[in-house]
Amino acid sequence: MVDQDVPTVPRVAIVTGGASGIGEAIARQLHGNGHEVVVADVRHSAAAVLAETLRRTGARASAVEVDVSSEASVRRMVAEAIDRHGHVDIIVNNAGIAGRSAPSWELPDGEWEKVIAIDLSSVYYGCRAVIPHMVERRWGRIVNIASIAGKEGNPNAVGPVYCLAPSRRRRRASAARRGWSCPIRGQLTATKARRIS
Ligand SMILES: NC(=O)c1ccc[n+]([C@@H]2O[C@H](COP(=O)([O-])OP(=O)(O)OC[C@H]3O[C@@H](n4cnc5c(N)ncnc54)[C@H](O)[C@@H]3O)[C@@H](O)[C@H]2O)c1
Repeated sequence: MVDQDVPTVPRVAIVTGGASGIGEAIARQLHGNGHEVVVADVRHSAAAVLAETLRRTGARASAVEVDVSSEASVRRMVAEAIDRHGHVDIIVNNAGIAGRSAPSWELPDGEWEKVIAIDLSSVYYGCRAVIPHMVERRWGRIVNIASIAGKEGNPNAVGPVYCLAPSRRRRRASAARRGWSCPIRGQLTATKARRIS
């Protein structure tokens, strides 16, 4: 979180890829802190199981099916979250895949497009979908999950496309890879909106 602050009043948070792994841990932590959580994942049944578990222990929680590589799907996710919870305060753009691990010339056709769509375009879609709502409410937090692979590269562990795509989230990434996090901050400043990310 850019401001390093943890919301002290209950908020509504969407966590993409929230059904398992790091997203699940984030969802559980936010919910444990008293916030309403929307577990958004392409695996709806797994998201529903987690949402049900969370609901039993405290604040509201719901599950939404989303494919973050589709802008239409991401927009539906945000609309459903607002419909069910009244508003959205926080989005954690976490969903991602490592992709195949192989030299680029051995990757199957379409692998580049798939990883870029899920790991990179998804962040753009998530930000586009929530920012007007957050600006209108004059409060919001956007968390984009990065990977060290985007900064250092990691040819032996993950596919080369993955090493490029997560770098969108690193503030110190090279200019070509700076991605969305830095420009979006500048755009929001230009609108004179209260800082929301
Ligand atoms: N695991 C690591 O060591 C590590 C390290 C650095 C960064 N990351 C990043 O953290 C994030 C989460 O990683 P993880 O290890 O928890 O992964 P994971 O595979 O355990 O979980 C990813 C979740 O995203 C969901 N998902 C996959 N494709 C989706 C799509 N198209 N739409 C919606 N949901 C989708 C999956 O169903 C799953 O629940 C990723 O962005 C990854 O790049 C992971």
